[in-house]
Amino acid sequence: MEKLLKGKVAIITGSGRGIGRATAELFAAEGAKVVISDIDPTPAEETVAAITSAGGEAVACCGDVSAPDFAAKIVQTAVDHWGALHILVNNAGFTWDSMIHKMSDEQWDKILDVHLKAPFRIIRAAQPYFCDAAKKEMEETGRATARKIVNISSVAGVGGNLGQANYSSAKAGIIGLTKTMSKEWARYNVQSNCVAYGFIDTRLTQDKEKGIAVDTGTEKVAVGIPVKQRDLFIRMIPMGRSGTPEEAAGTILFFASPLSDYVSGQVLICGGGFSM
Ligand SMILES: NC(=O)c1ccc[n+]([C@@H]2O[C@H](COP(=O)([O-])OP(=O)(O)OC[C@H]3O[C@@H](n4cnc5c(N)ncnc54)[C@H](O)[C@@H]3O)[C@@H](O)[C@H]2O)c1
Repeated sequence: MEKLLKGKVAIITGSGRGIGRATAELFAAEGAKVVISDIDPTPAEETVAAITSAGGEAVACCGDVSAPDFAAKIVQTAVDHWGALHILVNNAGFTWDSMIHKMSDEQWDKILDVHLKAPFRIIRAAQPYFCDAAKKEMEETGRATARKIVNISSVAGVGGNLGQANYSSAKAGIIGLTKTMSKEWARYNVQSNCVAYGFIDTRLTQDKEKGIAVDTGTEKVAVGIPVKQRDLFIRMIPMGRSGTPEEAAGTILFFASPLSDYVSGQVLICGGGFSM
């Protein structure tokens, strides 16, 4: 059987670790050429090395997705290396939680910038390689190649979550952006879908006491979940366990592949049976 992403060029933000990295490795194994991107260069380079040593093709483009010039830079990296862009996965992100009365403007803005404004800017920068390229193909062959936007949301974006006014709002907003793109670019054969994760084992869901911190540019913010809350969340999952990054990547592959060529504007909850 032919590989699902043979010859496709994909951008995956936040692919140095966690769900993004597992997705990058899966895409590469399925024949895609992948732009690996992360704010932290070391894990991004490690992902590139893992893919290339397994016989795949990958290149790194590092930086903060919320920087104003980042969108142009990452799209250009794909085009400079491989002359095209077919798949965009907006995955990069982190959490910066507190109850609303303690949440600063900076906390709100940063999380909205990373999880919503950055995907908006990257989608906008990809327009020539999604829509103009499709127009040209339609003129030449009568049909455009399917192109894919996969945005990453959360059950917090679907149902809200205590202490996550900023994150829940951003993850709800990305659903609106996903659905809008499924309408605006449908005529160019672009499918735009969203995966909303429940509880996937990454550093964002590890025990907070492990002390893993993300540098926001102005301060170091501890990520993770207090152990009691973590245990409670896991008990609420019908399958009784958290998901692995590899299981999470499978849902992104579905939306990036021809298996979903007639599916657009959808939100798929990947949450071990958790539904809302
Ligand atoms: N893990 C879960 O249970 C879960 C649940 C719902 C949604 N999500 C979402 O899944 C996505 C991936 O998260 P993960 O769990 O794999 O976390 P992770 O921390 O393992 O991976 C996220 C990667 O994004 C990078 N990143 C963070 N901020 C960035 C920025 N400003 N610019 C560029 N790169 C940046 C990090 O350095 C990291 O390597 C996120 O959007 C997250 O909100 C995760």
